Amino acid sequence: MNINQVKNICCIGAGYVGGPTMTVIANYWHNIKVNVVDINQERINAWNDKDLNNLPIYEPGLDILIKKTRGKNLFFSTDVESSIASADIIFLSVNTPTKTKGFGAGQASDLRWIEISARQIAKYAKGYTIVVEKSTLPVKTAETIQQILNAELTSSIYTTESKSFSVLSNPEFLAEGTAITDLEKPDRLLIGGDDANAIKTLEDLYKAWIPHEKILKTNLWSSELSKLTANAFLAQRISSINSISALCEATGADIKEVARAVGSDRRIGDKFLNSGPGFGGSCFKKDILNLVYLCNYYGLHEVANYWESVVTLNSWQQHRISSLIVNKLFRTLSGKRIAIFGFAFKSNTNDTRESPAVSICKDLLEEGANLAIYDPKVNKRQIEVNLNLQSSRNIANDNISQIKKFEAIEDCVEGADAIVILTEWDEFKIVNWEKISKLMRKPSWIFDARGILNQKSAIKAGFKVWSVGKG
Ligand code: NAD
Ligand code: UGA
Repeated sequence: MNINQVKNICCIGAGYVGGPTMTVIANYWHNIKVNVVDINQERINAWNDKDLNNLPIYEPGLDILIKKTRGKNLFFSTDVESSIASADIIFLSVNTPTKTKGFGAGQASDLRWIEISARQIAKYAKGYTIVVEKSTLPVKTAETIQQILNAELTSSIYTTESKSFSVLSNPEFLAEGTAITDLEKPDRLLIGGDDANAIKTLEDLYKAWIPHEKILKTNLWSSELSKLTANAFLAQRISSINSISALCEATGADIKEVARAVGSDRRIGDKFLNSGPGFGGSCFKKDILNLVYLCNYYGLHEVANYWESVVTLNSWQQHRISSLIVNKLFRTLSGKRIAIFGFAFKSNTNDTRESPAVSICKDLLEEGANLAIYDPKVNKRQIEVNLNLQSSRNIANDNISQIKKFEAIEDCVEGADAIVILTEWDEFKIVNWEKISKLMRKPSWIFDARGILNQKSAIKAGFKVWSVGKG
């Protein structure tokens, strides 16, 4: 099958990866029908919402592309069966979280959604289909998918018509908040596989906007492992700089100056050297733990320990920040109001998965604090679910009275003893601290876990200030 024969694409999983990636493909291929399917009806309804402010994912630039393509050649539905049946290429973009029980719990990837999808493909696909792994997967998962497809093919139930598959690995490297630019101008696009024709078809799909030299081709296992390794390296840089932030605070050095000096060395580079409250997001921790699991599985225990320390340092940094907040506020938070500025795991996203805010807020709640939370994109229910104050089935917990979500910074800080900056939203960089200071109880603190505060103006306004990595 060549690219001109591709008429239908199906993407299983309408999440942070599936939604934006398929929107970009649909925007470059008006003659290909792109069906994005999901089992989550609520999510699909949100993707189809007329009001683009209600899309399930906030990504700068996404709404404009959705407006251009949705209902024309881009469709969101729960119709998994017929979308698979009509597809020439199927992208697997389902979630691959860490297993919570059974063998490998806490480290290995839970591949149940991948397996279910593979079985559905085997059952409903027609003719020849290219199956593309978009989800981040442990090395050798393509083999598992191929086995599932082959097993179903040779079973007696589905042999009424001929079908065949090629499995490719095509991991996604987009970061949330910059998904559209990352998809349109990636540093590289990686395709792993051993079927030259299938690789060529997928390559041609992307060549509509990605230059030839940016498309790397490898074998399946290198491709799968490269994705885990890329995330591990990025996370490792954050843990490295955060470890030095603590040393800066202890010695009077400044982490920003150290990062600038170190990052000026072209061999090191200046990206991913922002010290903060530790990395969050749905992937870094799970992907490193998956790597750790794989290393242990292959008997490489020293390698496993090396990578595990990146995660250990990350959670240490989060508890270190909670603990210093308690210490500075006279070692008790009982009944105190703490204003939390930002709950998303980074700016420009509404995603709160593994957000440092979750761990830090839980610590502060344990100390008896009342939390007043402001985030421009995260809703109240999401915060309550993350803090285990409400289950996803709407059952409220007793501690729910300890948190309140506010729509304006001024209301959030009213009577507060401290502000904790946990997400680097631009609006926090231009706050009028004089005005805010007047609304708070004294002494009032700002704990700047992102290093974005204009310290001089905050101190001038009467605040006591702590900034990450500033001794
Ligand atoms: P997500 O949870 O936002 O979306 C996954 C979607 O798949 C969910 O909506 C879920 O309902 C759906 N799904 C699960 N099983 C299904 C099935 N059988 N049929 C139909 N739909 C099904 O996850 P995500 O953040 O988009 O991540 C997806 C994958 O991409 C993961 O492996 C992740 O590691 C990887 N990844 C994520 C990012 C990111 O920035 N979020 C970046 C690169 C790679
Ligand atoms: C990350 C990778 O950057 C993507 O390449 C990858 O595709 C994706 O994971 C994935 O596999 O899911 P993402 O998690 O969306 O993307 O966001 P990042 O920009 O990498 O930030 C991750 C976390 O690290 C955030 O909490 C961020 O605040 C933190 N961070 C980042 C720092 O603390 N300092 C930095 O210098 C950079």
